[in-house]
Amino acid sequence: MSSFLLAFLVFCAIYTSEALAYPHISKRQDQSIPLIRMNQGRKTLEEKAAWARRQADILLAKYGGGQTSAVQKRGSGFNDIVNHNQDSSYFGSLAIGTPATSFNVILDTGSADLWVASQKCTAGCHNIPTFSGASSSTFKNLSAPFKIQYGSGAAAGYLVQDTVQMAGFEVPSQTFAVVDQVTTGLLTNPVSGLIGLAFQTIASSQATPLWESLVKSGQWDEPLMSFFLTRFVNVSKANPEEPGGKFTMGYTDPTLYGGEIDYVNIPQGQQAYWTLPITSLVVQGQNISITAGNALAAIDTGTTLIGGPPSIIAEIFAAIPGSAAGTGDYQGYFTYPCKTQVVVQLSFGGRLWSIAPSDFLLTQLTTEECLGAFFQLEMGGDSPAWIVGDTFLKNVYSVFRFDPPSVGFADLSGTAHDLSVINGPLPTQTLNANPSSPTTELASSASSRTTYSFSSLFHASAFIVILCILL
Ligand SMILES: *[C@@H]1O[C@H](CO)[C@@H](O)[C@H](O)[C@H]1NC(C)=O
Ligand SMILES: *[C@@H]1O[C@H](CO)[C@@H](O)[C@H](O)[C@H]1NC(C)=O
Ligand SMILES: *[C@@H]1O[C@H](CO)[C@@H](O)[C@H](O)[C@H]1NC(C)=O
Repeated sequence: MSSFLLAFLVFCAIYTSEALAYPHISKRQDQSIPLIRMNQGRKTLEEKAAWARRQADILLAKYGGGQTSAVQKRGSGFNDIVNHNQDSSYFGSLAIGTPATSFNVILDTGSADLWVASQKCTAGCHNIPTFSGASSSTFKNLSAPFKIQYGSGAAAGYLVQDTVQMAGFEVPSQTFAVVDQVTTGLLTNPVSGLIGLAFQTIASSQATPLWESLVKSGQWDEPLMSFFLTRFVNVSKANPEEPGGKFTMGYTDPTLYGGEIDYVNIPQGQQAYWTLPITSLVVQGQNISITAGNALAAIDTGTTLIGGPPSIIAEIFAAIPGSAAGTGDYQGYFTYPCKTQVVVQLSFGGRLWSIAPSDFLLTQLTTEECLGAFFQLEMGGDSPAWIVGDTFLKNVYSVFRFDPPSVGFADLSGTAHDLSVINGPLPTQTLNANPSSPTTELASSASSRTTYSFSSLFHASAFIVILCILL
């Protein structure tokens, strides 16, 4: 691993923390926060290979391949994760405590716990903005141990309660974890933790997730959350941080999509991950058949790629002339001719949605050979057979609806497409991104926006990148 540590020195953003004079937050019924997307930056082939190699392990850890049930109901800290990977994630911000301090957190529809680094952190939190219970008058330490186990690392701490605000909403006594021991390299600026946006059923902490508290207490106009995620995978000069899109709670943003939202219900009793069956898979115009036992997919903003049953992934590439199974580091992946514009389309029971060829192209290996973004993932037990991550989600406006439990997709609008521009303005850390109510911004004024300086080196496994995928 240490060679990786050296290999992966990357410039990373450092969060210049500001004293956050905390203004009054007016509650609205529909709020949104901007997402910053951690871009993949420049990668060597070796780095890409190592990253690729890890994806299956990471997802197996996250979703529990093999014998273990996917529905991890107890706080067993089952998320075995590998602290090494190279693709992107999407994070937003939330604020904790009284007075409130804001933190960047990965937004993850594939898990259900909220956790942030502690100021008392003794390992692995160097340069990370951390949370201090002592400086919050509303803080309560539940002193119940909490641990998340990753493939090659872990984060451990205690469950606590405090006021948590996000997107203009507030939950007074939210249970979450404050971690004080993190495997080195797991956490890096400017991300301090992760918020799980899946159902309580799979919360290791067993706590009601913030989003579920909000929706159940009727705080949302509509019982749903939505995402628009930007694309920079095919922009070679993209900065490590670029505008990431928009996450909304309680409403959908009509400026970001067109037409109807095509909702598909989550199968009865499956409210754990946000799962839908894949009912149709078309590659270069050819139908690939999927049996019912192989169809269930978790729709996961916290996963970068798309993992699926090995035989079906092989069939996908069989429909692409010149493709070949990857070997070595690329085991489980397939290469294909870069000149081929691959269009994969997916349906979950409603419309057929296309994935842009630029999302299918994970990375270029040689002048002719490219690596596809679909990889073989052998899930077992009750785990979903597929993990459908950002490779797909960048192509649609996605809506996660609590009631009736369903996931919906719609076409992105021209406005949304225009937002994937390089060097775009980075969002401020806000509780409410509605520009018409600036008083709700956490930062005291537009000019006091969070600043990032590219001065910090971090080793190998960028937490951001890892978390993006994993948890
Ligand atoms: C919570 O309590 C435990 C001991 O019970 C302590 O080790 C931990 O540091 C506390 N956490 C915070 C954030 O104060
Ligand atoms: C990236 O891909 C998208 C979707 O295919 C395309 O619209 C955009 O022009 C591409 N950007 C670059 C820089 O190639
Ligand atoms: C694929 O199969 C569906 C039915 O499952 C059918 O409606 C559609 O026409 C087929 N498409 C192609 C390209 O064969």
